[in-house]
Amino acid sequence: MNEQSREIPLIWIDADTGVDDAAALMTALLLEKKGLLKLMGISAVCGNVELEKTFENARNVLYMAGREDIKVWPGADRPRLVEYHPAYHVHGENGLGGEILQESPAPRETKPAWEALYECAKAHPGRLELILIGPETNASIALDLYPDLTGLLKRILVMGGAEYGGNVTSSAEFNIWADPHAAQTVFKSGVPLVMCGLDVTMKAFLNAAEMKEIESHPGHGSRLISRASTRARELMRASSGETAYVVHDACPVIYAVCPKIFTGAEAGVFVETRGPLTRGKTVSDRITDIKFGIKNATVVLDVDRERFAGIVREAIMSV
Ligand code: RIB
Ligand code: CA
Repeated sequence: MNEQSREIPLIWIDADTGVDDAAALMTALLLEKKGLLKLMGISAVCGNVELEKTFENARNVLYMAGREDIKVWPGADRPRLVEYHPAYHVHGENGLGGEILQESPAPRETKPAWEALYECAKAHPGRLELILIGPETNASIALDLYPDLTGLLKRILVMGGAEYGGNVTSSAEFNIWADPHAAQTVFKSGVPLVMCGLDVTMKAFLNAAEMKEIESHPGHGSRLISRASTRARELMRASSGETAYVVHDACPVIYAVCPKIFTGAEAGVFVETRGPLTRGKTVSDRITDIKFGIKNATVVLDVDRERFAGIVREAIMSV
């Protein structure tokens, strides 16, 4: 095996820590413990809830997992252009379903997320993989401030968008809808993209039996996720009759180290930033006659749910 193949992925996660973001962070920590990735930094962005809450939530989830050594950097407290709208109905007003975590003793970083991200990318040219699991505001600011960042990042993996459907409107998924201009900057950046949209994330769930096992497990992570996911599970049951927990944000994290449990296809994907009906829609040319002329993204479409759930379940129960 040559040196190149021995290099484990260097990962930066930008999150609007809400409940599935918390599960994604636990998943990243498990994969790091297994030597499959190295977590270089976490940044917080407004999204599910306000920045000051997503910042504290990320810090406190890391502390709960015994990894308060990993720095969390504060990012944008509002979208680039559109109005800010939280998702309290899914994540609760504190972002963690009302669950209160012990406060991390780690010093609060004050350097802006985009600056910290750029410095990390410069220190590891061509190696850093950016995982976006909230609105893409911080990434877009970094790309606008530092034009050479596109040449420094290895790739950007996002939880966001959908070839079909939406969850905040009938045509848009929350992370893209919440800051469509930011997402368009990311999708037009030229950095190789992996898009884990609702096409795949709605198949990436913990089923009732797996959630029951987590509910009866005595760990901190199990308690947090089983209690904090009740709103999302109730919404799921009301809309589909399924009592499953969709862990959207764990998809790009797992894809970064285990792409083989997913299937996808290359396509041109760009973002609608206007339109009362279509704002935030990710428009993919994968099966259309008229093409964009560039394949900027791998659109992830399917996942081996059992293997996905096995990794996420182990991660939650290991905290
Ligand atoms: O649409 C799902 C996405 O929106 C997830 O990232 C969830 O955390 C919310 O931010
Ligand atoms: Ca999120």
